[in-house]
Amino acid sequence: MRVGYGWLVMGALAGCTVFGTGASAAEVKYLDEFDLSAMSCGMGAKAQARRSILGKPLRLGDKTYERGVGTHSESLMFFRADGRVAAFDAVVGVDRETQEYPASWRTGKNWGSCSFRVYADGRKVCDSGVIKEKDAPKPLHADLEGAQWILLECSDGGFWAGYLCGHGDWADARFTFNDGAKLEPVKDDPLLDQWGVLTPPEAQEPRINGAAVWGVRPGHPILYRIPVTGRSPVTLTVEGLKAEKLKGVKFDPQTRLLSGSVAEAGDYELVLKAENAKGKAERKFTLKVGEKIALTPPMGWNSWNIYGGSVTDAKVREIARGMHESGLADHGWAYVNIDDWWMKNSGAGEKGNADHAGPVRDAEGRFIPQAKFPDMKALADYVHGFGLKIGIYSSPGDKTCGGCEGSLGHEAIDAKTWADWGIDYLKHDWCGYGKVFAKETKGRKPTVDDYAKPYRLMSQCLRAQNRDIVHAFCQYGMGDVQSWGEAAGAQVWRSWGDLKDNWTCVLNATESYAEAYKYTRPGFWCDPDMMVVGYLDTDFGMHESFLSNNEQYTHMSLWCLLNAPLLLGCDLNHMSDFTKGLLMNDDVLALNQDTLGRQAERVHHDEETDIWWRPLEDGSSAAGIVNRYPFKRTVTFKFSEAGLSGECWVQDLWRQKSLGLHRDGIAVDVPGHATFMIRIEPDCIRCQERRARK
Ligand code: GLA
Repeated sequence: MRVGYGWLVMGALAGCTVFGTGASAAEVKYLDEFDLSAMSCGMGAKAQARRSILGKPLRLGDKTYERGVGTHSESLMFFRADGRVAAFDAVVGVDRETQEYPASWRTGKNWGSCSFRVYADGRKVCDSGVIKEKDAPKPLHADLEGAQWILLECSDGGFWAGYLCGHGDWADARFTFNDGAKLEPVKDDPLLDQWGVLTPPEAQEPRINGAAVWGVRPGHPILYRIPVTGRSPVTLTVEGLKAEKLKGVKFDPQTRLLSGSVAEAGDYELVLKAENAKGKAERKFTLKVGEKIALTPPMGWNSWNIYGGSVTDAKVREIARGMHESGLADHGWAYVNIDDWWMKNSGAGEKGNADHAGPVRDAEGRFIPQAKFPDMKALADYVHGFGLKIGIYSSPGDKTCGGCEGSLGHEAIDAKTWADWGIDYLKHDWCGYGKVFAKETKGRKPTVDDYAKPYRLMSQCLRAQNRDIVHAFCQYGMGDVQSWGEAAGAQVWRSWGDLKDNWTCVLNATESYAEAYKYTRPGFWCDPDMMVVGYLDTDFGMHESFLSNNEQYTHMSLWCLLNAPLLLGCDLNHMSDFTKGLLMNDDVLALNQDTLGRQAERVHHDEETDIWWRPLEDGSSAAGIVNRYPFKRTVTFKFSEAGLSGECWVQDLWRQKSLGLHRDGIAVDVPGHATFMIRIEPDCIRCQERRARK
């Protein structure tokens, strides 16, 4: 469409400054005239020309717009230009349709929000800031003269909200050209690069994976399967078990399982040796018998992000089998945790759900699980049979978040029941306790004690059992839990609400970590929630994570750097090669399981880049260079930002390959929303040796 420049100035875009190039003639082309298949769109949806993302008229505030594009965050559209595109103008906001969602959706923070940005040649040219659904739409103007490439971004404006209701409208959106300008949308430009599988194929030589330490309380059962990879058959031996104090410990080379118990507290040094036709591996391993358990962050799976309320005994068994058969267990993945809905939900029972009918507890006050969990002890035995561990879920309130039977008033009997079944992990979710808390703190400011009370009580009950049960507090960071979680008996505390597979959620979750390094250490971990990678069901049916590949790399990288518990929520029997590579990279997992247990600190933070850095047990250190922008950038990490100096040996952790020696810093290419992970060996450790080898 060709129009005179005067038409633009007088155009219908009230409040928006229209760009003036001084050119005597200009051409305008609306965004809805371009091939919108080049626009990516969140939630697996497709951007709509002249329509909202739900296919309705574009409506922002009181106004309906004829022209424009409806999309869903996260959404990107990339263009190659020739320097003669003059400007881009639009009115942006959250489409009115999100306000018409059913009332049941519209709880808490569950409303729409988006932010809109335009980038050109590596610069952010304009930014709407966060716009919530009830905010007035905003005019945007981007001066694009000289640009060789242009990127339109509609991203989630905030936690939860944008994930569900990020219905972003680029209303009246149009480019103005100087005569003859070229502008083409491009899908596969190198600047929008998505990393594929970076993890190299598993080596044939044996490798001993997982933590180099395991904590167990005196006299309590040890259940530790040594994770080993390499071409079969691999023979595994454990040296050091002949010591008198370890006579109660057994090692089965067939199952690779360490079992039994040790009566006396102490650090028992063992040597693990693996051998196959291709080579040998050896590693020191400390059995730490004492009060502290979970000496490295728990790694495993949780049912919530895939099965929600439809979890069953059969599904949990399938997952345990999948963890074993997929090879995940050989890389250290070990917990199989059942979330809400294993117990009865009397409300569902009354509404005719036969699985939940009848009494929720027996005459002694013990849980009667719902019918799809016919025998919890048998299930625990099945999971233990693979050398894996099993976790369970409850609430300190009378009801769980899903309205099932909680533990209020039954703490002692519940802890005993779980121990009798063979449970190894408890996720203890605040939800139903909110009512008790509100009553107890009515008319006054809650104290730390008010928050800690129900958790302390359950911790004492768990500690009274004859087996170790990891106690994971799930209360979303209330009352600054990180400062008192350890004292109240936690091994793990949630710092954050429910994580969804959305870029802003992942970044926001790590914000809750900025101060956490002060409190975390071996045995005490901060949890930004379960992982949202792979094939899962975070409310919208089974789907591959809505996070892009690069975003999944960032998610995994950060959870490893930050010593977060790694709890998958995906189907372990249907993992793509990409998911397998993401979850079975032993160099990356080794950060999470490093015995020093020092969580990364953010040593650099600005709008474009985060750099997280942490020291490691062997004197080296690791850093994650996060590109917060959606296109490929070269980012420089100055070693001085982490207190390092001189010449360092650098390794690319995802690709497991050396990047050679670097003085003072390193510049790396990081695709949009990806994280480049490096391990750094300062000169003082092995550079001389490496140089000689080179
Ligand atoms: C809360 C928790 C989730 C999950 C559900 C179960 O929302 O934060 O992780 O456990 O409850 O109902």
